[in-house]
Amino acid sequence: MSVAAVVVAAGQGERFGGPKQFALLNHDTVAAHSVHAARSVAQRVVLVVPMNYDGNGEGADVVVVGGTTRAQSVRAGLAHCEDADVVVVHDAARPMASATLFGAVVLAVTQGADGAVPGLAISDTVKRVASDDDATFITETVARDQLVTVQTPQAFRRDILERAHANAGDATDDAALVEALGGRVVVVPGERTNVKITEPGDLALLTSSVHS
Ligand code: CTP
Ligand code: MG
Repeated sequence: MSVAAVVVAAGQGERFGGPKQFALLNHDTVAAHSVHAARSVAQRVVLVVPMNYDGNGEGADVVVVGGTTRAQSVRAGLAHCEDADVVVVHDAARPMASATLFGAVVLAVTQGADGAVPGLAISDTVKRVASDDDATFITETVARDQLVTVQTPQAFRRDILERAHANAGDATDDAALVEALGGRVVVVPGERTNVKITEPGDLALLTSSVHS
């Protein structure tokens, strides 16, 4: 089965304070690490970049300009995956995802799932909250045994991912759009090290933990 990867790197990094995906992490950009990991499963890697991008492609095969939302950026990349049976979508801002993790989500789809995502059990206690004029307060403790937090890379059958995006929906991940179609998305074990660089301190934590 042929596999294409869409690495989305068209965000502004507002919480980080700039386009974190092009910051340096051990002599390479964050996005280049993500492209390299995607390359372990994909014959074609499509990198989706901001309009003002002036880099060298980060090692990708195809570079396209994204949109104002993550879902729009995925659609821009997906338009260049026409020959693939399986598409794996990955956040450029997750440079630590391993080749093993890419392999696991792709394998689950080749074995028959519509989609596959990495998930982690929640170790903290989870509360539902509400706010009034004075404070934020707890309304309920939520059972966490049926909850996971999910990461990228997320793999899908290409035809199903295209249908999921066909009505230009918006969601923070692609699995949500496939779920909305009634697709079966399986969860494989995620990696605690596969953090998404989001806040300013996150990159420094990675820099101190990477030795290669
Ligand atoms: N992304 C994208 N196009 C967008 C928004 C996000 O390609 N319009 C990408 C980001 O570059 C990132 C991934 O989607 O690799 C996950 O998004 P997030 O961590 O939210 O990054 P940003 O949107 O850049 O950050 P922020 O929300 O803080 O502005
Ligand atoms: Mg964002």
